[in-house]
Amino acid sequence: MQKIIKVKNYDQLCAVAGKIIGAQMQEKKDSVLGLATGSTMLGVYKELISLYESGEIDFSYVKTFNLDEYLGLPGENPQSYSYYMESNFFNHINIKKENTYIPDGSASDGDEECRHYDDVIESLGRADIQLLGLGMDGHIGFNEPGECFIKDCHRVKLDESTIKANSRFFDDIKDVPKEALTIGVGAIMDAKTALLCVTGKGKSSILKSILEDDITPKIPGTILQLHNNLVVIADEEALSELLA
Ligand code: GLP
Repeated sequence: MQKIIKVKNYDQLCAVAGKIIGAQMQEKKDSVLGLATGSTMLGVYKELISLYESGEIDFSYVKTFNLDEYLGLPGENPQSYSYYMESNFFNHINIKKENTYIPDGSASDGDEECRHYDDVIESLGRADIQLLGLGMDGHIGFNEPGECFIKDCHRVKLDESTIKANSRFFDDIKDVPKEALTIGVGAIMDAKTALLCVTGKGKSSILKSILEDDITPKIPGTILQLHNNLVVIADEEALSELLA
């Protein structure tokens, strides 16, 4: 099942995403949330923080796992996703740190860390909501275009286009890690709801492509067409090609 929620702009996207996640948490206080990073999520986290501050939601029993992490960046590195999550979200809500999981980018054995992370996800159970952004090359998490879909957590070489797109967060493009750890499409497809948030004109063509093209690992997001409950929140700019 697929539902597209069309919103006017980014602010509305964040408000709607916050409302959907908030409602899930009100219904089930020990919800499992799959979390994402990237600039799209910043406003969504702000929204959730404000729902928490106004007493509408409580994270005491919530558990979270993140999609991915750069390989080679320890959690204290400001460009790591671990640091991003702490500074933009976890430090502002009442979640227990021991209930939050992110792949360890400083692991000496990345493959071993992936096996461990799959065990973590299995022990948490299916995500009630898996929050997703969309990469310019159609990646979800860091599942990059390839010859096949990869079900489990894995180590991945980042595409040149992803390195370039993400270099805006680094002082120098040379500082962008070349590899990452990402959950596989298995855990994403297993989520009870996949909540894909897409904003801006720059994503309009890839959004159309993942929703309308044939399903192919060359455009990883196309697999979401098979998700049992895909909810897309997208603004007018992001939807401009899809609805044209
Ligand atoms: C990174 C993350 C993805 C995210 C993507 C989009 O590559 N690994 O999970 O979806 O960025 O980011 P943005 O929202 O900044 O466009």
